[in-house]
Amino acid sequence: MRMRRVQWAIDYLEQAKCRIIDPEKLKGKWKTTLNTDVLHVEIGCGMGNYSLQMSKMYPEQGFVAIEKNDTAAGKAAKKYDEDPDKGKLLFIHGDAMQIDEWFDEKEVDVIHLNFSDPWPKNRNAKRRLSSHSFLEQYKHILSENGTIQMKTDNSKLFSYSLLEFQNAGFKMKEIDVDYRSITHDEDAFTEYEQKFVEKGQPIYRAVWTDNES
Ligand SMILES: C[S@@+](CC[C@H](N)C(=O)[O-])C[C@H]1O[C@@H](n2cnc3c(N)ncnc32)[C@H](O)[C@@H]1O
Repeated sequence: MRMRRVQWAIDYLEQAKCRIIDPEKLKGKWKTTLNTDVLHVEIGCGMGNYSLQMSKMYPEQGFVAIEKNDTAAGKAAKKYDEDPDKGKLLFIHGDAMQIDEWFDEKEVDVIHLNFSDPWPKNRNAKRRLSSHSFLEQYKHILSENGTIQMKTDNSKLFSYSLLEFQNAGFKMKEIDVDYRSITHDEDAFTEYEQKFVEKGQPIYRAVWTDNES
């Protein structure tokens, strides 16, 4: 779904305090910057609710939210800046296509892919955040026991992703085809997720790791 441009949100990005302007300069230093032993990265955070809530639920852990769309990024950044109760949370406005230029080898403990754009046409498959070229970069930046957690409402994207992860050599640790049918207090809702759950749609979820642990 294309997002309508909202000028105030785009303008806000210039002054956003949570925003890291040159993420490559923090490569290898995210954990010390956030004063944490555990680093989460959410790719395609949209309007930002997930990382904000998770940073409050896990105040010792660090979160970096990434969003490329200008309007969504401005809204997320403003939300983060204005919440005095947020945890250890930073924001990158940019395209995660080059994520391994921002994070060092084995620097990230958990990657979150929440309701990623499905890009249904084959010619756009490489834009999917669970496509081969992204997975190769995730492998590089994931820590030894690191995980990738994916949630989606889209069964086709989910089946596609299961195969991509398998072909890239990841090991599946968890799978659920109706994740919110039981309570998961340990995991925050995203904006999209909230809407799908209210409509009664099932949420697909899987967790992978890159090793045999
Ligand atoms: C369908 S929205 C879901 C937003 C949010 N995760 C949620 O669940 O409410 C997907 C978001 O991912 C962002 N996105 C897609 N590809 C991206 C990329 N390569 N880098 C950064 N953000 C990306 C889009 O701009 C969009 O805001």
